Amino acid sequence: MNGAPGSTVNGAPRGDEVCLALGGVSKRFGSLSVLEDVSFSIRHGERCGIIGPNGAGKSTLFNIIAGDLPLTRGSVHLLGSDVTRLSAHARARRGLARTFQTTTLFPRLSVIENLVLALQAHSAERFAMLVPRSRYRERDAEARALLERVGLASRANATVDALGYGEKRQIEILLALAQRPQLLLLDEPTAGLAPSDASLVTEMLKREHAGLTMVLIEHDMGVVFDVVERLIVLHYGRVVADGPVDAIRGDANVQEIYLGGKL
Ligand SMILES: Nc1ncnc2c1ncn2[C@@H]1O[C@H](COP(=O)(O)OP(=O)(O)OP(=O)(O)O)[C@@H](O)[C@H]1O
Ligand SMILES: [Mg+2]
Repeated sequence: MNGAPGSTVNGAPRGDEVCLALGGVSKRFGSLSVLEDVSFSIRHGERCGIIGPNGAGKSTLFNIIAGDLPLTRGSVHLLGSDVTRLSAHARARRGLARTFQTTTLFPRLSVIENLVLALQAHSAERFAMLVPRSRYRERDAEARALLERVGLASRANATVDALGYGEKRQIEILLALAQRPQLLLLDEPTAGLAPSDASLVTEMLKREHAGLTMVLIEHDMGVVFDVVERLIVLHYGRVVADGPVDAIRGDANVQEIYLGGKL
């Protein structure tokens, strides 16, 4: 899809460069076909939502993009390279980060410990047995700066267990951002949140997106319309609509499929 030219970096039209490209992706679980010939590409800096009814194949698609599940047919290109056969770790090293539909924090550790571990996991020294104490101090400072950025500095020493659900989701997004990803996949970041917590997460996503390519699975249409500029609609594993939010919102076919009513 060719949109308007985006921001330029050193004169190059970065906004037109493709960050993620799926070519004819299909996935079967035994005899069950979950994804069928899914193709689309996402430009650098684009914020794209994926919507569709329960069971449409949205999380499966994220698993395939991230390398957590093998595909049955098709290809995945990340930043211009074919990563179809690469592991999830290899894709993460190339700049892909994701959050999951359910929480993946270490519940007994503190917020700051979770963040320091995430920073450590994505450093070049992740396999080193001994890391200089000064490096831990740097990571600790970096982690505190991240918490400060989202107004959660006062929760640094709280155990994850003691956090509210909304705070947990914010920390999870922060963990993904700590990897300084080129592409961030978010699977229902506001699922199960009270409206006030959902708006905290929404505000965070809007604030933090600068320069980041983001793909968001979300059932809450308020969040979708607030955060993304483009929507892809999945239905029974197929892309049935793909375009600017306003166009999709007014699409009678999408309204029928997705909500049986008003979008
Ligand atoms: N590992 C698996 N083995 C077999 N079937 C699976 C597996 N994972 C998912 N499925 C099936 O694939 C289909 C799509 O599931 P998926 O989780 O991708 O849907 P979704 O669009 O994310 O739904 P939701 O909105 O409820 O999160 C469902 O029918 C699901 O039962
Ligand atoms: Mg899902």
